[in-house]
Amino acid sequence: MAEIAIATARLAEAGVESPRADAELMAAHRHGVARSALNLVADADFDPRFWDDVARRESREPLQHITGIAYFRYLDLEVGPGVFVPRPETEVMTGWAIETLDKLDVAEPVVADLGTGSGAIALAIAQEVPRARVHAVEADPLARQWTERNIARCAAAAPHTAGRVELHPGDFADGVPGLDGAVDLVISNPPYIPVGAGVPPEVGEYEPPAALYSGADGLDAIRVVQRVAGRLLRPGGWVAVEHGAPQGAGVYWVFAEENGWAQTRNHCDLAGLDRFVTAMRP
Ligand SMILES: C[S@@+](CC[C@H](N)C(=O)[O-])C[C@H]1O[C@@H](n2cnc3c(N)ncnc32)[C@H](O)[C@@H]1O
Repeated sequence: MAEIAIATARLAEAGVESPRADAELMAAHRHGVARSALNLVADADFDPRFWDDVARRESREPLQHITGIAYFRYLDLEVGPGVFVPRPETEVMTGWAIETLDKLDVAEPVVADLGTGSGAIALAIAQEVPRARVHAVEADPLARQWTERNIARCAAAAPHTAGRVELHPGDFADGVPGLDGAVDLVISNPPYIPVGAGVPPEVGEYEPPAALYSGADGLDAIRVVQRVAGRLLRPGGWVAVEHGAPQGAGVYWVFAEENGWAQTRNHCDLAGLDRFVTAMRP
């Protein structure tokens, strides 16, 4: 499609980070074909509404709000205004959790996902660890509408996930009712951007602020996750928490031995940047 080159140039000019990929993904979505089949779309079948999509992306609306879909591990999730768009960085941490759960000698591991948003982490675990029971906590009512939609969507696409993810409305500072000392793995991608830090327009203008900012150093919510994970986990249980690239050392010390943790470790994302910390409750 000759239009892709023009769209790519327009998106690059607008400062979009991956202009070619975004142009192709929008064209593929608009024409209902795989990205790899775009060359098979005949000129006569070109849908001019593609240019409306390009204009939205030029104004830095997130790609996933335009297509309505975010891909996360083996899932495609519905996303849009009011919910955080799941990121590839979080796929790596979720992969660590899945491997850890696979190694546990527990018939039905219990997992808590604190701040579930679209349900990405919770649903990926339910899909890839069919034995797991996942408790997903979310405070924001708008975000919870998306979680509910995705729980239903996944149950239709992967029936073994049906009934395995339970959504708990509320503040994760309050934990999960009835689960103190009973959870095998706590995972969280909480808000972690320092208040006042600069972010790209896709983030600052479209993501819900409650999903982004967390105190002067960005670590307020992570400190809450540390306290709550200590309460929820059984001895020998694990916690994984995502953070910003410069926060690796700070988050390591939140999960220090004197706070009751063992085997604390920093992990990198696919770009080699510090991205999440794991620790065990001894
Ligand atoms: C960065 S988003 C992550 C969403 C999802 N887990 C993901 O990785 O794509 C953080 C989420 O935590 C929720 N959240 C923030 N503070 C919370 C709190 N104290 N209690 C419950 N949910 C909270 C936000 O509304 C948002 O949906």
